[in-house]
Amino acid sequence: MTRAVHTGLAGIARVELATLPTPLQPAARLSDSLGVPVWFKRDDLTGIGLGGNKVRTLEFLLADALGQDCDCLVTGAGPQSNWTMLAALTAIRCGLEPFVVCYGDPVPDRGNLLLHRSLGTRVHFTGDPERSSVDDAIDQLAAELRGVGRRPYVVPRGGATPVGALGYLRAHIELRTQLSSLPEPPTALWLAAGSGGTCAGLVAGSALLPAAYDVVGVTVSRPVPEITAQVSRLATAAGELIGAPVTDPAVEIRGGWIGSGYGTPSPEGERAAALVARNESVFLDPVFGAKAMAALLDACRSGEVAGPVAFLVSGGAPTLFAAGGS
Ligand SMILES: Cc1ncc(COP(=O)(O)O)c(C=O)c1O
Repeated sequence: MTRAVHTGLAGIARVELATLPTPLQPAARLSDSLGVPVWFKRDDLTGIGLGGNKVRTLEFLLADALGQDCDCLVTGAGPQSNWTMLAALTAIRCGLEPFVVCYGDPVPDRGNLLLHRSLGTRVHFTGDPERSSVDDAIDQLAAELRGVGRRPYVVPRGGATPVGALGYLRAHIELRTQLSSLPEPPTALWLAAGSGGTCAGLVAGSALLPAAYDVVGVTVSRPVPEITAQVSRLATAAGELIGAPVTDPAVEIRGGWIGSGYGTPSPEGERAAALVARNESVFLDPVFGAKAMAALLDACRSGEVAGPVAFLVSGGAPTLFAAGGS
């Protein structure tokens, strides 16, 4: 089984964008205050732009785009999307012109949108506040680009595709190696789940190359049944891509931490982020990391999590400067 993953992944093209491995660090002061050993997997330090989890996703997506001889990338999400900003940033690195579709009407340039402006990304707004309005608009923009002779690589919101999920399948191998050197390794990795691609890669990796840790996603946008099904579907499809069937993906998603809505900071999340900043000198973003950490703190305080646990610090620094708003 081990060989199948390595062989399969090795056969899939990847552009090297991230500085890897990212550190696995003990969160010593936070651990003392909780009475639970906590480790941080620092994917905010992936080393391009302001870092973040999606850089791993984009290593496989951009290789796929280059393999298809595309000359531009079209994707979308909200104006404060870390995903679209990193997609644009890394597309440029690979020589592809980025086009981004945002739901809603134009908003002031802050956070990730400000960074898009400095990158020169062509940003289009759908004029419809529905998040799903992006999906049709991406296809429409891609069709227009094809009509003028361009060769777009089209990626859905969050880069949540089987190819994109390979980024975290690979991250699982990296983390597994890091954990194996610890005398008392964490028995779970907690992380934020948005579009689900990050969870899916880890879940597929754990199914194919078993590790003694559970993947626990905390949904920050979709209802639990929807994101659970999405993670399961993506994990299975990612396994198929590398010729290694993922038969029974173990998907564990926690709900109850979205607060008043996706993209809007929650009081529990803000408190969790402040605790982490003041103890560990690490900033958690308000949209993903802060809410996932709120869930983990609750589980530690209730006694549900008592043994060593890992947390994926997934980036999102630009939204610290965007005063909420997805
Ligand atoms: C900072 C950050 N953390 C976590 C996530 C969640 O990742 P996924 O969409 O793969 O579930 C995202 C998604 O954009 C993100 O930007």
